[in-house]
Amino acid sequence: MSSATDCLEVGTAQASLHSDVISGLSQPQKTIPSKYFYDERGSQLFDEITTLPEYYPTRTEEAIMRKFAPDIINLIGPDALLIELGSGSSTKTRILLDRLTTLKAYVPIDISSEFLEATAERLRDRYPHLTIRPLAEDYTKELWLPTEGLSYDRKVAFYPGSTIGNFDPDDARDFMRRVRVMVGDKGGFLIGVDLVKDPRILEAAYNDSKGVTAEFNLNLLNRINRELDANFDLTAFEHRAVYNEQESRIEMHLVSTIEQLVSVGNSEFEFAEGEYIYTESSYKYTVDDFASMAEAAGFRLTHTWTDDARLFSTHFLDSNL
Ligand code: AVI
Repeated sequence: MSSATDCLEVGTAQASLHSDVISGLSQPQKTIPSKYFYDERGSQLFDEITTLPEYYPTRTEEAIMRKFAPDIINLIGPDALLIELGSGSSTKTRILLDRLTTLKAYVPIDISSEFLEATAERLRDRYPHLTIRPLAEDYTKELWLPTEGLSYDRKVAFYPGSTIGNFDPDDARDFMRRVRVMVGDKGGFLIGVDLVKDPRILEAAYNDSKGVTAEFNLNLLNRINRELDANFDLTAFEHRAVYNEQESRIEMHLVSTIEQLVSVGNSEFEFAEGEYIYTESSYKYTVDDFASMAEAAGFRLTHTWTDDARLFSTHFLDSNL
């Protein structure tokens, strides 16, 4: 069922896709924000990426969370309000919810309201005694939590998946500051962060042998063709993912293989052969660098867990009073 609000949201989303694409392609370094990867097909492709042998982050984070679940549960403490930022299907959260018997309420936040409601329904079946208050919002913006009538001891935010790596470092710190404000003085923050490592492991993870990441990257052009009346020729662009060691980030590009002219609605953009659109940064952190950023955001890193190969890390942060 669609309401006036749903329609307004769709209209607004369309307008920002249009203005972001036009302004991004008008820069000397053409760019399109990575948040636009996630249309229906893009979300399916991302789910497939998380199961690929080369893409270690998802399975490694889950293994860390399972192994250290008792410690994590202790740190969250009794009677907490657990807030998940960008909850999707809440897969990793179940590791926590299965064990957090005294949780006061769970607030999953996701921009996709349909997905969010379906997930909340499934969780209500699985955890009939748990209060679940889904919030369909962009979690990067300022939020009012649906906490009416709830009493709880502390707020703990949960942000798995190393999605923090898709922000530029200044934006990542600002985002963490907003989380700090949201959880308040007694708050906690459980967050997954991908670690700096051998570039060969990183580049393999973003250039998988089945070509799913390539399809995920190119799907952005498909989306723009469909939603903005554009004419990108998908056979004339190639996926590229390279590790920029200086900046500690994977960069995803869409490289034009020929000189060409592309139209997006009424606007035209020239591409030289080899010119590329910058589509995503995925920053990798050392534990020390992440701890400094957390501190700059008003948190104190109290615990870090990693896998034996130190591919991925999960951290618990306390509000620094
Ligand atoms: C969502 N995010 C943490 C993924 C990453 O690894 O940066 C997105 C992704 N891009 C290509 N593969 C996965």
